[in-house]
Amino acid sequence: AETSLRRDELLGPKTTMRVGGPARIYAEPASVADLQALLRTATAVPVEVFILGRGSNLLVPDEGVEGLVISLAHEAWAQFEVRPDGRIWVGAGLRLKNLCGLAAKAGLSGFEFLEGIPGNVGGALRMNAGAMGGWMFDVVDELQLMTMAGEVQSLPRTALKVTYRHCPELERAIGLGALLRRPAYANAEVVNQQIAAYRTKRQATQPREPSAGCIFKNPPGTSAGRLIDESGLKGTRVGDAEVSPVHANFIINRGHATAAEVLELVRRVRARVKEVKGINLEPEVLL
Ligand code: EPU
Repeated sequence: AETSLRRDELLGPKTTMRVGGPARIYAEPASVADLQALLRTATAVPVEVFILGRGSNLLVPDEGVEGLVISLAHEAWAQFEVRPDGRIWVGAGLRLKNLCGLAAKAGLSGFEFLEGIPGNVGGALRMNAGAMGGWMFDVVDELQLMTMAGEVQSLPRTALKVTYRHCPELERAIGLGALLRRPAYANAEVVNQQIAAYRTKRQATQPREPSAGCIFKNPPGTSAGRLIDESGLKGTRVGDAEVSPVHANFIINRGHATAAEVLELVRRVRARVKEVKGINLEPEVLL
């Protein structure tokens, strides 16, 4: 299949924050060969390459992105396949919500914590996304990636140096998918109850407005949300960007926020928390 290249594609609508300008060039490759061809072209031009996941942990600049933005949004990357040995292959483009739902339907347990994370597998691998006490690499057996030179590699979990919200192996490579550990079999009813319990907890503690999830990483042993809250910052606004009154580690878009407004609010929050708590917060979102 030929990948169609689009010019000046708006990226804001492809992010959960709903902020940001266009990509100079945008492409949704339909196969490994397409992706390799795109990378070869980008090297030859040359043009900088950016990988867009589900855009849930990302702030796109107002002026957009000067380069080639590649998204694995084509359905070819959204596989969920139970292998004969019981492990599950998931493609980078599969949404975590769907991973969780498909596993529940098949009566497979262990993926319930992924339900509320608004991203796809690729993004979750890239940043070792987590919630409810678990994180993505808890369930990964093998990671498949493509280097920027177009080489496909499979790396066992034991070869990866992942930590909290970080996977160094994907800093300069593209996650293509993963083989997940052979899950435990359970009653679909029980799995669904666990998912529902997590959903209820999340709905009570996290905002519904557009956001990029938590803006800062939790410093060791404490919660960034609590620190921001205790610094008196809930409800602080710059334009349409606001520190969520529900959970202080979320910056929400009240309607027409710009990236500049979000960045200014991030700067003010960091400065205030440093002043009040003496702690330097580190962004989790790619700013
Ligand atoms: N808290 C406050 N005020 C707030 C927010 C939180 O006092 O405005 C307090 C809570 O009452 C609680 C503690 O801080 O005692 C921890 O709060 P919570 O359970 O909401 O967890 P968190 O540490 O703030 C982490 C992850 C979330 C994940 C939740 C639930 C990070 C940065 N955040 O939040 O992940 O959904 O646990 O498991 O690791 C994300 O990474 O984007 C994200 C949303």
